[in-house]
Amino acid sequence: MATQPIPSAGPDMLSIVHDDHQRIDALFADFAAAADAAGKLRIVRKISESLLPHAQAEEEIFYPALAEAGCDGDAVDEAFEEHAAAKRTLDSILATAPDDPTYDMKVRMLQKEFQHHVREEETELFAEARDAGLVLVALGERFAARRAELVDEFERRPHGAEAG
Ligand SMILES: [Fe+2]
Ligand SMILES: [Fe+2]
Repeated sequence: MATQPIPSAGPDMLSIVHDDHQRIDALFADFAAAADAAGKLRIVRKISESLLPHAQAEEEIFYPALAEAGCDGDAVDEAFEEHAAAKRTLDSILATAPDDPTYDMKVRMLQKEFQHHVREEETELFAEARDAGLVLVALGERFAARRAELVDEFERRPHGAEAG
């Protein structure tokens, strides 16, 4: 079995962000395999509780660090807009009962928006972050700490439609 190099400090922000993306992507795959409405609702809640803290921590820590380092403002603006669009789709899903005929289509739409955004984030924005010489380990610590706070906060929030 291949061994991972042992980092001298915590993981850098980009690897934390990438791991989040992988975990959320896997939840969408779980949704596609869900057996019934209750299972779908459970997975959508997990998606919501992962996606919202992830996006907000990016908006508070990752994207401002890029902007402060003088990175491409258009790419950062576009990332904010894609987050806003995904949150609107998620709100619409959370306001819909999982046995509604539009439910699966809305979740697939969110999955497509997520995958498109991740592709751009992991190419353009990751490259900008590396080129700008951001201190990614220090940012990773801040990102992980803030995300953990937000996970607690979002887990305590009500989740829209409770039907099903
Ligand atoms: Fe992300
Ligand atoms: Fe993002």
